[in-house]
Amino acid sequence: MQSLTRAIARMSLLLCLQSVSCQIQGFVKKAAFLPCIYSDSKLTNAKVFWRDTSDRNVLDIKDGKEDVSNQNEKYKGRVSSYPEEYSKGNFSITLKNLQLQDSGVYDCFIYSADTHRAVSLIVSAEPTRGPETPAPRGAATKICAHLLLLAAPFLTSFL
Ligand SMILES: *[C@@H]1O[C@H](CO)[C@@H](O)[C@H](O)[C@H]1NC(C)=O
Repeated sequence: MQSLTRAIARMSLLLCLQSVSCQIQGFVKKAAFLPCIYSDSKLTNAKVFWRDTSDRNVLDIKDGKEDVSNQNEKYKGRVSSYPEEYSKGNFSITLKNLQLQDSGVYDCFIYSADTHRAVSLIVSAEPTRGPETPAPRGAATKICAHLLLLAAPFLTSFL
């Protein structure tokens, strides 16, 4: 069962990287990596706006920096991005301390390029484990981390 989950997660990540929309699986209290990659052309000081299903401000990126001045309360202290990656068109974010209500579609509007990427996040309760797979705490997120090619230091700091 675990390996099937793994295969599905791997497949959906590949889809994420290749298309404008994708699906990410997350677990309550864990972190999810929401990819947003724009590689069509070089963007300097890109303006990028992350918004949730209800159009709440998840994160703004302006002038090569995170701008949290209009960030919605729901997301305060829970979102990180990777400023050193902006110049490569990588505006991905990590949303931590997931709750079931975080499920929904997240849009990454790349204002400077007049385009957007959508990520559908599905948060579920921590999977119950069969006796044959006594997974350690945080294993589910680690599987994601591995498959998402997340830099290990970013994620382990959330666990
Ligand atoms: C985007 O940045 C994150 C965080 O550094 C990294 O894990 C991920 O591999 C990067 N993605 C691409 C396609 O460069």
